[in-house]
Amino acid sequence: MKNIVLFASGSGSNVENIVRYFQDNSKVNISAVLSNKKDAKVLDRCNNLKINALYFNRNAFYATECVLDILRAFNPDLIVLAGFLWKIPENLIAAFPDKIVNIHPALLPKYGGKGMYGNNVHEAVRANNETETGITIHYVNENYDEGAVIRQVKTSVSTDDTPESIARKVHELEYEYFPKVIAQLLEVE
Ligand code: GRF
Repeated sequence: MKNIVLFASGSGSNVENIVRYFQDNSKVNISAVLSNKKDAKVLDRCNNLKINALYFNRNAFYATECVLDILRAFNPDLIVLAGFLWKIPENLIAAFPDKIVNIHPALLPKYGGKGMYGNNVHEAVRANNETETGITIHYVNENYDEGAVIRQVKTSVSTDDTPESIARKVHELEYEYFPKVIAQLLEVE
């Protein structure tokens, strides 16, 4: 059995998609979803999906070992950041080398780094008249959006696209590819 722990800060549509993807897979267990936002929609989704959900605050994350202890207890084979907006502290990266992966809604190294999340990314892609964008699934290291790339998938951007339509295209790619890449990393396909 492979254990996954997910981190999310927002809506959690990727979390829900990943949970549903592995629902009938007896080799994969979603141990828990951890969130830094008490009122994040992802926590309601977890409630509906009957998935353990835990909340932690900034102090617990950066000044204590409590999240590390929780993770150790779950013994994850993979830690998946799905719309998680805080930088992962060094102690977690050191404890889980090559076991933390993130999805970024653009083709890194473009449109990465601090402040480049959600609609900021899609607005910047639009403003720069890019002809393509996409998703990047990558390992997490101590710098935002700089770990080794695992998989990138592209989609085209036309002059008719708005930040909202770009977001929709990117989300579609996320829903299609993120669970598959997770399954490959866990070797459960
Ligand atoms: C996704 O676009 C993901 O790439 C980014 O944050 C967004 C999360 O969306 N890192 P959701 O919370 O999964 O709906």
